[in-house]
Amino acid sequence: MNQPQTNHELFEDIRREHEELRELLGEIHRTLANRLAAVASVSAMLVSLGDHIKTHFEEEETTGLFDNIVDRAPRLSERIDALRTEHQQLLAVVRQLNEVARNGDGSVDWWQRLNTDFHKFSAELMHHETAENDILLEAYTDDIGASD
Ligand SMILES: [Fe+2]
Ligand SMILES: [Fe+2]
Repeated sequence: MNQPQTNHELFEDIRREHEELRELLGEIHRTLANRLAAVASVSAMLVSLGDHIKTHFEEEETTGLFDNIVDRAPRLSERIDALRTEHQQLLAVVRQLNEVARNGDGSVDWWQRLNTDFHKFSAELMHHETAENDILLEAYTDDIGASD
């Protein structure tokens, strides 16, 4: 059930989720770098990452966060559109990553490929979330606390 949230709560929720995502990426990075898991569990871990990200993106797009930002600061609308486009691009990359993982054979080449692909994806996702944090700050800092 969706409880109505204040702007401040919405802002804090998303910032917290960005922190959680960063930690999750760190864990996966360590697992891949040290080859700590079996092929099947690597694949499951990346499927779970994909689900997590999909839910996160949907939340940003459907809880009113993005619309709310544009309402407050129409000058940010192009940057919000760019974030929506990036969501689709990032989901496509994570699907590819899942494909590579699913077809894993545990070979050295496979581990290296997965590691490289994951790194690239991880950097792109963090870049996206940082841009989003900047926009959140820009949209909400002016009157945060004042409106709640
Ligand atoms: Fe996002
Ligand atoms: Fe985000």
